[in-house]
Amino acid sequence: MPAYEVFAKFYDAVMGDGSEASSHLTRLIQAAQPAGNNLLELGCGTGSVLQHLQHDYRVSGVDLSSAMLSVARRKVPKAKLFRQNMVDFKIADQFDVVCCVYDTINHVQRFSQWKRLFANVCRRLAPGGCFIFDINTQRKLQRVIAAPPWVHRFEKNLLIIDVTALPTRLPASIPVPPKFRPPALSMTPLMSAPITFETAPKAVLAATRVTKRVAAFFCVTS
Ligand SMILES: C[S@@+](CC[C@H](N)C(=O)[O-])C[C@H]1O[C@@H](n2cnc3c(N)ncnc32)[C@H](O)[C@@H]1O
Repeated sequence: MPAYEVFAKFYDAVMGDGSEASSHLTRLIQAAQPAGNNLLELGCGTGSVLQHLQHDYRVSGVDLSSAMLSVARRKVPKAKLFRQNMVDFKIADQFDVVCCVYDTINHVQRFSQWKRLFANVCRRLAPGGCFIFDINTQRKLQRVIAAPPWVHRFEKNLLIIDVTALPTRLPASIPVPPKFRPPALSMTPLMSAPITFETAPKAVLAATRVTKRVAAFFCVTS
């Protein structure tokens, strides 16, 4: 995940302090698992969400990027942080809540990896535990693709994120139940959306790319 190694330094300046997402998450947790105490965030990044949750929960985080994790270590010193792949992370604990926010699941590119991730989360959940996640749907990505590049000024820098689509084919070997096939979305196209962090003259961000692929039949929210 080299993009996040570059992005880590600027992530919080660009993405904010995570307070809004944390409040929303807290409401969901209280509704689903009010007695929950032990929480794991997959793709915890710089710990923006965990820093707010650490007061009410025992928090752990998994992320692939060592640069993102080193920011998180400063911000959430009490958290147990693991540099692992969320697809097949190995942590001995059981969790009342596992969460994965800011469409981080969209970083997982293969259907087989989605299945492993969900099976793994299921194994790590304590009885009655819940998994809370959000994803970018195909519809949302189509909106983002059609929209002009997102430009964000921060300090003396400029960040430009432009999402573009590359049609790819879903392997025929993937069995998809009909109920996950909305008529408007044919099964064949998956959306592959490379996101480019580009540099403006004064920007300190190096040009780099993140590729996201979204399986439309997993639409949960938009
Ligand atoms: C959109 S950011 C979310 C950051 C975090 N939720 C926060 O509040 O700061 C996505 C994060 O997921 C991590 N990531 C992407 N793919 C991953 C994977 N397969 N396993 C673990 N972490 C991953 C990236 O390194 C990045 O930190």
